[in-house]
Amino acid sequence: MTRIHVLPGDLVNQIAAGEVVERPSSVVKELVENSLDAGATRVDVEINGGGVRWISVTDNGTGLPRSSARLAFQRHATSKIRSAEDLAGVRTLGFRGEALPSIASIARVRMRTRAHGETVGTELVGEGDGISGVSEVACPEGTRVEIADLFARVPARRKFLKSIATESTHVVRWLERIALAHPEVRFSLSREGRSSLLLLPTRDARERVIAVLSPGLGERLVPVAGEIPFARLTGFASPTDLQRGNTSDIHLYVNKRPVRDRLLLYAVREVYRDALAPGKHPVVALYLDVDPEQVDVNVHPAKWEVRFRQPDAIRRLLRDSLVAALGLGARRYASTLPARGYPLEGVVAESAPADFALASTGEQGSPPFAAVSEAPLVSQPGFAFASLRYLGQALGTFLVFEGPGSLILMDQHAAHERVLFERMRQMLLEGKLERQALLLPVRFELGRSAADVLAGASELMERSGFELEIGEGGLRGGVRVGVRTVPAVLTGRRNTDWRALLEETATALREPEAQESRDGLEGALHRILSTAACHAATRKGDRLGPRDVEGLLQSLDETIWFPNCPHGRPILSVLSEADIERRFLRR
Ligand SMILES: Nc1ncnc2c1ncn2[C@@H]1O[C@H](COP(=O)(O)OP(=O)(O)OP(=O)(O)O)[C@@H](O)[C@H]1O
Ligand SMILES: [Mg+2]
Repeated sequence: MTRIHVLPGDLVNQIAAGEVVERPSSVVKELVENSLDAGATRVDVEINGGGVRWISVTDNGTGLPRSSARLAFQRHATSKIRSAEDLAGVRTLGFRGEALPSIASIARVRMRTRAHGETVGTELVGEGDGISGVSEVACPEGTRVEIADLFARVPARRKFLKSIATESTHVVRWLERIALAHPEVRFSLSREGRSSLLLLPTRDARERVIAVLSPGLGERLVPVAGEIPFARLTGFASPTDLQRGNTSDIHLYVNKRPVRDRLLLYAVREVYRDALAPGKHPVVALYLDVDPEQVDVNVHPAKWEVRFRQPDAIRRLLRDSLVAALGLGARRYASTLPARGYPLEGVVAESAPADFALASTGEQGSPPFAAVSEAPLVSQPGFAFASLRYLGQALGTFLVFEGPGSLILMDQHAAHERVLFERMRQMLLEGKLERQALLLPVRFELGRSAADVLAGASELMERSGFELEIGEGGLRGGVRVGVRTVPAVLTGRRNTDWRALLEETATALREPEAQESRDGLEGALHRILSTAACHAATRKGDRLGPRDVEGLLQSLDETIWFPNCPHGRPILSVLSEADIERRFLRR
């Protein structure tokens, strides 16, 4: 049992294939990437049985010369790098010399290839451990690879595959993903014998985006561009009023390689966070061109993630370019609050106070909340709130106003929540978030895991104004929690349910991204403050007197304007005079 032995070659390959080839779409991805590395301007893909029965990829790239073709299926044989320096500066999509041998270890393969200028081509056939046949063949210039019976020799894998339709959809998604970064290449896909995708070559990246995304979507995206000394960003992004229910249209590329990199995703989310409703996502296709020396692409088995040498600079590039492209313009926090009235255009923040560093997280760079402090300022309302004429409260929660040439409905809860949130955030930034001891100390039991989360975040909670006593767990699993202080701005409302507030804060903090290093700290503070603001804000059904409304309007004028509550719900709905007249057929 304990004797060590070396595994046979084909088993080694099969194990390695587990990392490279998860499903048919991974094979398509590897083959198409090889075609692009070979400079192809045309790539035709065919699949049958969802790609399990059959895959072929044909390209018009450089092809392989007779002399080296037979090495294509040898493990660690590649034409793309020779040395560690090459690896550090790699520009091609492939570099490991692993894809073809891995695929050959779990399927039957045939490759026909002819190099430009050579009169005859080479055919290689193989299955399992190595290539069993090499012969001369007449074939067009370029390369065609055929894969049959994927996973036939690895039944365990086969069991994990989904239906033909699902596997085909994965293939389509991958092809589209790759095509988005290569507009100058013509791509076609035939599925179960029927043509299912044809993307004509174009020089205009936007045209390709329009062709790939759902109809009507690509047209609405705005161009993004930005540059720093070692990197350039181009691409397209959705305006903040376009929202999607999932992340499948967030397309990110590093040197034309599709990635799902956490840092880049975070930078995108950071810009949209305050503008989109919860659970909603933007549509973006962003292409980052980085000096290859500045990025390590060899950190993830499927090359899904990369590592930047200067992550902060990259993140700032993304954020600033997106903010500019979306017209979010002026920065959010001026060092002195702007005078009342609008417009605010041209107000640019000084950077956040330098001493605003939280517990060290081992990362250098800007303090955790500073990024949020530079978050976007979206479309000004174009009037001073104090100038609105209050008409009354409707349906228990909407305040009705007459504004300049318009009728305005305001969600009292969303508005108040935004005011409280911004006040706390501003005070936090300035290091003067006041706490207030509760008149009647509040004590209650929380579940063990909620209490643990709060105890773990005690420093953040204190910074946010919450001083808590977290006791020992009782026998039944509950933990006694006492609230000593809360942020002073929150004490205006009677009957705030502090227990519910803390429970919800714990839930918010438990979300996975809240726990990650610096990025997570910002998110965590955002969550603590927005949960607190939401609980302490006026509710639906609360009756507001004219005084309360006046106070709210004044606060809105003093708060830097943002059109949504921190959870993404809009604050205002404006009906223009023209809209109203149209309803009465006066126009
Ligand atoms: N379509 C193609 N046209 C021309 N050459 C090809 C093509 N496909 C593969 N090759 C050659 O075969 C070699 C091996 O391909 P393989 O995909 O296994 O490795 P790689 O692309 O070098 O690295 P990676 O494992 O990261 O993909 C490549 O380096 C390339 O020289
Ligand atoms: Mg490859």
